[in-house]
Amino acid sequence: MTADVVAGSVERGRPRRRTRQALRVAIVGFGWMGRVHANAYLTAVAHFPDLDVQPLLAWVVDEVPGRAAEGIEQYGFEHSGELWSDAVSDPTVDAVSITLPNFLHRSVGIACAQAGKHIWIEKPVGTSLSDTVAVAEAVSAAGTQAAVGFNYRNAPAVVLARDLIGSGELGEVTHARFQLFSDYAAHPKGALTWRFERDRGGAGVVGDLATHGVDLASHLLGTIEAVVADTETFVKVRPRPLESHAGHALALHGPPGVVENEDYMACLMRLNAGARVVLQVSRVSVGSQNAYSFEVHGTRGAVYWDFRRMGELGVSSGPGFQDQSVRKIYVGPSHGSYGAFQPGAALSMSYDDLKVIEAYRFLQAIKGEGHPAATMTDAVRNAAVLEAIARSADCGRWVDVVEPMGTGSPGAPLARSTERNECI
Ligand SMILES: NC(=O)c1ccc[n+]([C@@H]2O[C@H](COP(=O)([O-])OP(=O)(O)OC[C@H]3O[C@@H](n4cnc5c(N)ncnc54)[C@H](O)[C@@H]3O)[C@@H](O)[C@H]2O)c1
Repeated sequence: MTADVVAGSVERGRPRRRTRQALRVAIVGFGWMGRVHANAYLTAVAHFPDLDVQPLLAWVVDEVPGRAAEGIEQYGFEHSGELWSDAVSDPTVDAVSITLPNFLHRSVGIACAQAGKHIWIEKPVGTSLSDTVAVAEAVSAAGTQAAVGFNYRNAPAVVLARDLIGSGELGEVTHARFQLFSDYAAHPKGALTWRFERDRGGAGVVGDLATHGVDLASHLLGTIEAVVADTETFVKVRPRPLESHAGHALALHGPPGVVENEDYMACLMRLNAGARVVLQVSRVSVGSQNAYSFEVHGTRGAVYWDFRRMGELGVSSGPGFQDQSVRKIYVGPSHGSYGAFQPGAALSMSYDDLKVIEAYRFLQAIKGEGHPAATMTDAVRNAAVLEAIARSADCGRWVDVVEPMGTGSPGAPLARSTERNECI
């Protein structure tokens, strides 16, 4: 960390000056997520005045000529470039957001750790369990902090759901449903970008959306022990893009190419604690835009959440069992980090706010306060479940999740089983 930044603030009407240590950040990959991370760094202090560091936007990198330069003009970055190595080798950079396509996570993540940089890395970390473990080991060896982009666990209603489940309000959890349906690949002329290629994207909707579902399931309900899965690719051929673009765009006149990963996945999951979970994900659901939801049932109650009404949690609890009603709770300042964004219940928060919470937890962890909202230990466990899903879809049977063991704490080696997930 470099120079201190002195910021003015007002407390009970009297101006007060607070010194925050400057923390120089770089963002590599300036598509959708790169911009969301940039916004989160810019607004973190405004939402969390207790933040001990002041992030400064040092570098923005994107391989598409001119795209990173927009970061200077729109966000105030100091430097822009086309090579991620330029940012990572800058000794003044403290932390790097890795918002690149999945196949670059491993090499960039390891390079950052070896250069002593803290990382905020997007999910899925790499294209395979081995990629995720390699990044986790590099981070562990470097003793740096790593935050992973499992943002939905930061939603205040999800925090409330976890509290209710943990407190026993629902009784013993028996079964749950997690569903993440989207239409971002529903158009048959949607461009065949890196997301649809094995080498650059890895898994398809499993790496993109099931990873969030697996994170929510394990964050709320505990360890996933075994899975049985089915996958399908419904749109088998797509046009290749004629020009490079970020996000999901159409390529009406591009030459055809083969889609190499799955559009849809459904699986059953057995949890260590005995609960049974259904997870269903799709990127080709016409009419379903970011339809991410779950319901969790226990012996005495249930909770219901839908990302598109992020501030509401349906709760059924009490002594009734049968015919027990569901009440709607609008989350408010007493739930999770809601109070950092809105002063009273039922005011809307946004997707980007979840990333501001993620940035805050990451930056505080760098300063030695707490830990990131989701860590590399979470990412490795998540990747082990995704690998079990892929193997089950291949062999058509239940597959045990081989849980890599590790402490995830800075400096500690990440021990792991050498066994592969085998069909039972
Ligand atoms: N947490 C979430 O909810 C969430 C949502 C979307 C995406 N993601 C993840 O974020 C990552 C990025 O996704 P996105 O939607 O922003 O993708 P995107 O395609 O919009 O952006 C990726 C950017 O990286 C750039 N790039 C590619 N190769 C590069 C290289 N070698 N050097 C520098 N720049 C390079 C591209 O030009 C592009 O601008 C992925 O891992 C994705 O899974 C997470």
